[in-house]
Amino acid sequence: MSCCHNYYVQTEGKESVFSVDISSIVFGHGALKEAGEHAKGLGMSRVALFTDKKIGSLPYVAQVRDSLKAAGLDVAIYDEVKVEPTDQSFLAATRFAVEGKFDGYVSVGGGSVIDTCKAANLYATYPADFLDYVNAPIGAGKPIPGPLKPHIACPTTCGTGSECTGMTIFDLLSMQVKTGIAHRRLKPTLALIEPATTYTLPKNVVAASGFDVLSHALESYTARPYTKRAPAAKPSLRPLSQGANPWSDMGCETALKLLGKYLVRAVNDASDHEARDQMMYAATLAGIAFGNSGVHVPHGMAYSVAGMVRDFQPEGYPKDEPIVPHGMSVIVNAPSVFRFTACACPERHIHGASCLGAEVNGATNDDAAEVISKQLIKLMQATAIPNGVGGVGYGEADVPGLTKGAWAQQRLMTNSPREVSKDDLENLYRGAMRYW
Ligand SMILES: [Fe+2]
Repeated sequence: MSCCHNYYVQTEGKESVFSVDISSIVFGHGALKEAGEHAKGLGMSRVALFTDKKIGSLPYVAQVRDSLKAAGLDVAIYDEVKVEPTDQSFLAATRFAVEGKFDGYVSVGGGSVIDTCKAANLYATYPADFLDYVNAPIGAGKPIPGPLKPHIACPTTCGTGSECTGMTIFDLLSMQVKTGIAHRRLKPTLALIEPATTYTLPKNVVAASGFDVLSHALESYTARPYTKRAPAAKPSLRPLSQGANPWSDMGCETALKLLGKYLVRAVNDASDHEARDQMMYAATLAGIAFGNSGVHVPHGMAYSVAGMVRDFQPEGYPKDEPIVPHGMSVIVNAPSVFRFTACACPERHIHGASCLGAEVNGATNDDAAEVISKQLIKLMQATAIPNGVGGVGYGEADVPGLTKGAWAQQRLMTNSPREVSKDDLENLYRGAMRYW
């Protein structure tokens, strides 16, 4: 907070309290082999092991399954998880969870697997109409009534941070929107994080997930301060997206410094294990941080960039359908957004750029927009990220549609440090169309 000590000045009639939900984490080489003992310690006896077909064929799932069995637990594998899950795929997973009468869950995979496991645990434990728990205004946004069954999450990408958050994201097919469920009870009970799972990831996957981490950290760090939000009527109603706060700042700053040092190395050299290990740690730190503060406009704009994809198919991803991977759909908006938000908290934008490796000596508040956007563009170019929203297949004619989808993400828009109107959003997409 050194450069931004005025960010949390108390405001009359606004929130004066922030809360911290800390994840339990086991991090390092060999972490997955401990799954059985941890599951037993959490009281599990019959375990649902969630993964997807691709990850299921890698050694990590076998490692976890063997560890669970060695601890004397009964294990049933569910590998039908859909990459980019939908309400339908959540419901299919829920049927498996209900029929299996499990007393614990373990997920091994990326964000899609961990998110699906969270949802299956929720709907099997507290059955309800599907939209009851879904974020308002799309769903009813009802709070989760009690604790879920224990869930151990084992991430295999260095990106989503889902293992540390109480959020699950999916496509609601009937409305063609991406939305989610956000509640602290969804947060996995424990995260087992093995950095070696990233060693075999293709370059583009590391780039996309690395920029997802970067944006988690930079958005959390520059989010509207919690002291500017209306106070929660009671503690249980305090939102997960409570805004920037001193605790989240610590994780964001460290994550940004790690990204500045290791992101380009981790993307461009799969044999640089030090860089990939550090990326996994940065993802963990950023996940813990944004889980307690929330992201804002780049993530809000990403929903429609991913959702309206026509024919974009990046290297390193399955070729069966077009996809703008989550991290890519976020970062293509980021330079345009941070250029716009810089005036709301310029010191934070300059400090963020400095953590990411920018030379900021002599930079004044007036330079903040330029300094941060330039550094982001430099990192995007160094890791072969597409050139803006235009680089993933959109043009001027798509701006109204993109804006409509992003405008629906009010939970994220209101976490922005600078108020965002619908017209602003249109201009942000225009500004993001091409950077170089
Ligand atoms: Fe993200």
